[in-house]
Amino acid sequence: MEKWQVLATLDIPEMGIRILEKYCKVEVNKKDVALSKEEIMAKLHNKHAVCCGAEDVIDAEVMDSAPNLKIIARYGVGYDKVDIEAATQRGILVTNTPGVLTEAVADMTWCLLLGLARRIVEADTFTRSGLFKRSGSRALTGIDIKEKTLGIIGAGKIGTAVAKRSVGFEMKILYYDVVRNEELEKIGARKVEFKYLLANSDFITLHVLLTDDTLHLIGEEELAFMKETAYLINTSRGQVVDEYALVKALARKQIAGAGLDVYENEPYIREELLEMKNILLTPHVGSTTKETWDTMAVMMANDCITALKGERPSHLVNPEVLE
Ligand code: DGY
Repeated sequence: MEKWQVLATLDIPEMGIRILEKYCKVEVNKKDVALSKEEIMAKLHNKHAVCCGAEDVIDAEVMDSAPNLKIIARYGVGYDKVDIEAATQRGILVTNTPGVLTEAVADMTWCLLLGLARRIVEADTFTRSGLFKRSGSRALTGIDIKEKTLGIIGAGKIGTAVAKRSVGFEMKILYYDVVRNEELEKIGARKVEFKYLLANSDFITLHVLLTDDTLHLIGEEELAFMKETAYLINTSRGQVVDEYALVKALARKQIAGAGLDVYENEPYIREELLEMKNILLTPHVGSTTKETWDTMAVMMANDCITALKGERPSHLVNPEVLE
């Protein structure tokens, strides 16, 4: 039997490749640089499946450049860059890898939170620069976390995992979501109005999907509600925050700082953000741990093979495509 042709736009772990290679010929983009839309289109013309990353735009035009495409497998949970309606209209299945990256992203959120509170990156730079002349340098004074208020916007799986980690730090937890989360309330979290959360949290962390409703959820007005001493953390999607408004708020010291793993126009990052001191920046690596990536790769590869065989994959985003 002739093998199916698969494009992996990112360097997924070997475990996933091995599963795919039983039935498929796999072309992998091994470079640590995302492919442009044009490059993806050029590579997809003979492919039956594409395994894609968070930044890959797979819209109607891309789909039309790939007449044999049967499945778009998102290596990750968010599928905001995939035009689901266009895929469904064309009979293309879309899958993702939900659930398995919850803990890794929650850990990353905490890395940013702790890093901001204790100025870890500044302290590292300070030490390496030979400025360590006495213990307890006042220039690196941080803040305590104990008894501070954690504000969680989006109380789904990741928001809940972030909240659970705060229990050991004896933090107060506020959350905002359209639906009530009893699991969170059992650990003492309080469901509050959006503006109340903005005005009363010391650390605000975003865990919403990107939709029309959450685009620029945090803008100038919302930043103005935050305490001057508060930090904003975003490991969800860059477009949830109006980056221009954030830059202005940080420059005016209207808030204390920000920890960002995601950006409005990835992989582009605004110059102003790169120059600011009161922020921590990481390159969308929330889910990137060995264990999580291996699990995601196996999940995605199995779904790919199942779909190519004409069966229903376990993590189908557009079930209506089968109707
Ligand atoms: C996701 O799963 O959507 C993460 O952002 C990584 O791609």
